[in-house]
This record gives sequence, C-alpha cells and structure tokens, in this order.
Amino acid sequence: MPQPIYVLNGPNLNLLGARETEIYGRQSLADIETAVAARAKSHGLETVFRQTNQEGILVNWVQEARDNASALILNAGAYAHTSIALLDACRAFGKPVIEVHLSNIFRREHFRRRTYISEGALGVIVGFGPQSYLLAIDALAAMGKDLK
Ligand code: DQA
Repeated sequence: MPQPIYVLNGPNLNLLGARETEIYGRQSLADIETAVAARAKSHGLETVFRQTNQEGILVNWVQEARDNASALILNAGAYAHTSIALLDACRAFGKPVIEVHLSNIFRREHFRRRTYISEGALGVIVGFGPQSYLLAIDALAAMGKDLK
C-alpha cells in the first residue's frame, strides 16, 4: 500500500455545515472526512485528514507530507488566493497535489479566480461540493502505481 494521502483543509472550513450554507452546503467537515476515508478505503488507500485556521501550520503539514504522504489533497480556503508560502511548500512536496474547492471559485467574486496553489498542483477540482474531495481521491486512485 502506498503512503497515506494527506487531505489538508485551511481556514474556516471547520465551520462547514453552519457557514454560508447556500454556498457550502450542510455537510460538516467531519461528514466529509468520513466520506473521504470510505472512498479511499474502497480504493485500498488511506487518508490523513486535518484542518487548521493557521497558514504556517498548513505549511508545516505540507512539509511533513514530504516524508509521510504519497499525495496531497489541499483545500486551502482563502489562503489559496493569497499564500505564496503554501505554493512554495506544494512545489517542494514533489509529489501529486490536487487542489480542491467546494464552491466554483470561478463564478464567485473576482478575487477568488486567482489561486496560487493551482500553479503547484497537478490538477484542480472545484464546484462539486463535498464531491470535489471524492473526485480527487478517485483521480489519485486512477494514478495507481504512480503513488509511492
Ligand atoms: C473555498 C473557496 C475559498 O474561496 C473560500 O475562501 C473558502 C472555501 C471552497 O472550498 O469553496 O474558504 O476554498
């Protein structure tokens, strides 16, 4: 079995299910964690799922993933639009990064259209709600033996 997939979540995603439900839906982050673990398991994969509101902690976790993860699924929240530090960490990771967003950031405010993370990502999945995470798991599973 490859190393686990790190699924990292940034600021305000701890409020999913309670925050702007017309945009983000009613599922909590814990619900998404459960669904992600089940989807990964169905492919014979493991996940490590975390959330923080702090940019530096996200950077630390991406660095930790260099030794401990086969791939990274990253919903950096608003830091996707601002954080060159996270982009640099993703580039240093050197293994597949899939950027995900629940909402379709391209049909919202103009400032959300720019994401730094996407420049360091293998692929980007946006707009499918919690399914965005599951599609990212499927995409990584389809890479199969390329995951180390
Ligand atoms: C988000 C989109 C970001 O623009 C926003 O700041 C979030 C959530 C999403 O999953 O749709 O916090 O990353």
